[in-house]
Amino acid sequence: MTRICLLVAFLVAGILADEEARRGLYSSEFDNLDVEAILNDDAERDKYYACLMDTGPCHSEAAVFFKDLVPEVVVTSCKYCTPRQLEIFGKIVTWYIDNKSKEWKELVVKTIEDARKRGLLDY
Ligand SMILES: *[C@@H]1O[C@H](CO)[C@@H](O)[C@H](O)[C@H]1NC(C)=O
Repeated sequence: MTRICLLVAFLVAGILADEEARRGLYSSEFDNLDVEAILNDDAERDKYYACLMDTGPCHSEAAVFFKDLVPEVVVTSCKYCTPRQLEIFGKIVTWYIDNKSKEWKELVVKTIEDARKRGLLDY
């Protein structure tokens, strides 16, 4: 009986470990995004912001892609980010904190709400 329990435990542990390994990093499809150009272009930056805040449509595939990642990126501290995605998110964060701190706070609040809705936070 104990032996069967141990066997089951090992099998489950193996499946969970596999699941984590299979997960890997996010797709690098939009790693070439010119994040500086977007941040320095008011109209373009506002479009991305509206997409992230659900106050406007998502105008590009990159916007849809990054919007989908953001809640998990925040909750996991970019655990599944490619090195370039880490750089992109880092630039966005420093730009907003420096230049638009009110918008930044609103985005953080919205992102935490989204993370909670997706069950990524247990509080
Ligand atoms: C704040 O905005 C200016 C103008 O867009 C930009 O040059 C500067 O790099 C921004 N600050 C940060 C920390 O990115």
